Amino acid sequence: MKQFQIALLGFGTVGSGVYRIISENGAQIAHREGIELSVGHILVRDFEHEPNLELAPRALFTTSFDEILSDDSINIVVECMGGIEPAKTFIIRALEAGKTVVTSNKEVMSKNWPAFEKAAKATGAGLYLEATVGGGIPIIRTILDSMQANNITRVMGIINGTTNYILTQMTENGQSFEDALKDAQALGYAEANPTADVEGYDAMYKLSILSSMSFHAHMPIEVIYREGITKLTKADFETAQLLNYRIKLLAIGKKDGNKIEVRVHPTMIPATHPLASVRGVFNAIFLTGHAVDDVMLYGRGAGCMPTASAVVSDIVYACHHEKQHKYMTFVNEASMSSEIELVKDFHCIYCIRLNVADRPGTMANIAAAFAEQGVSLKSVIQLGENDGVTSRITFLTHAASEFGVREALKKIESLSCVNAVESMIRVEE
Ligand code: NDP
Ligand code: HSE
Repeated sequence: MKQFQIALLGFGTVGSGVYRIISENGAQIAHREGIELSVGHILVRDFEHEPNLELAPRALFTTSFDEILSDDSINIVVECMGGIEPAKTFIIRALEAGKTVVTSNKEVMSKNWPAFEKAAKATGAGLYLEATVGGGIPIIRTILDSMQANNITRVMGIINGTTNYILTQMTENGQSFEDALKDAQALGYAEANPTADVEGYDAMYKLSILSSMSFHAHMPIEVIYREGITKLTKADFETAQLLNYRIKLLAIGKKDGNKIEVRVHPTMIPATHPLASVRGVFNAIFLTGHAVDDVMLYGRGAGCMPTASAVVSDIVYACHHEKQHKYMTFVNEASMSSEIELVKDFHCIYCIRLNVADRPGTMANIAAAFAEQGVSLKSVIQLGENDGVTSRITFLTHAASEFGVREALKKIESLSCVNAVESMIRVEE
């Protein structure tokens, strides 16, 4: 039976899960796949502060990456340290040494993918990244190995478990943002720096990978519109509830010919939408292909064992392709291809809540500002307490231009009858 030796870089949530699966399920994998996996080294930062030291034999641990690199018995390097450096350098050096790399690190991948791929191709090493998007969901493999017949026109989904957990807790249990975040961190879902989750960076890294693969064109993170969930208020959840919507942090990519839009932002979706029932740490991704139509994948988007499941799947895949690894078939350059037209002025429905002076002419002035920008209103609802002096009004627009709505809101904010533009949340039906 063919044997493969693995080195783990990082032994935290994901790394320890990979070790556990290989230890506990290695015999089954060997039986089914005809390959024997073993862990040869585990790189940790220092022995003294490593909390998971008791989970594996002491002899496997090292603090030297060079020891791993110079060990010819190591075929596959699994990077699950996170962050940019030294992950980036270790990945490049491993690939240059002809070792296949499997990573769960979407940040380093989305920021260095072209360079990594170049290094991999130069030595024939493999480069696999299933765990970078959607935790345990086999989304990458689905796109690459099961959707080849299709031109994918849309990817849309919940691809950050931490924010979905927080939004679910806030919606269903009225939990505060801070408490829900603390719980997500304790459960091992959140990034070391939770800003990456709550400000939408993590989803942006993932959408860069997902949309590049789906649309067959590299979509660098710089071209993705990003907005996090930190500005959402209790009133937004109340508004959503009254309109029978749910608020989700959605990653959205759409392709029409050579036009592509890519964005991450809090989004209202109907309570009946399949994505509305995706709760807690679960992720779900819709793919729309011209032949297959809609496909939805659902599963645990974060956590030790689900993510390790994706990593081990990559390891097995890499073993089966050791003689000829698969690479991306699109041109993977640092900047977006000049053949792609990036849609910055995308169109969608907007839910806008204003705090206004409750007096004659208010509505007329606001409606005029929307009309000037060609923004057509679908419904207007007066919500909440009404003291006869100020009032809260929520507008739902028809599909409108992003730039048009922003311009209209600039004007509306300057009106003397408007106390505040309280929120503007995009809607996907
Ligand atoms: P953890 O923080 O739990 O684990 C990372 C481990 O790597 C830590 O033990 C850390 O040690 C170690 N490490 C960091 N730098 C070095 C270094 N220079 N040398 C040796 N060890 C180092 O992170 P996760 O396991 O949660 O995440 C790892 C990667 O996987 C990240 O890129 C993350 O985005 C991604 N990911 C995580 C998921 C999850 O659910 N947790 C899901 C999908 C992807 P120390 O504590 O000393 O810094
Ligand atoms: N912090 C990420 C999340 C981990 O919450 O989804 C999985 O990538």
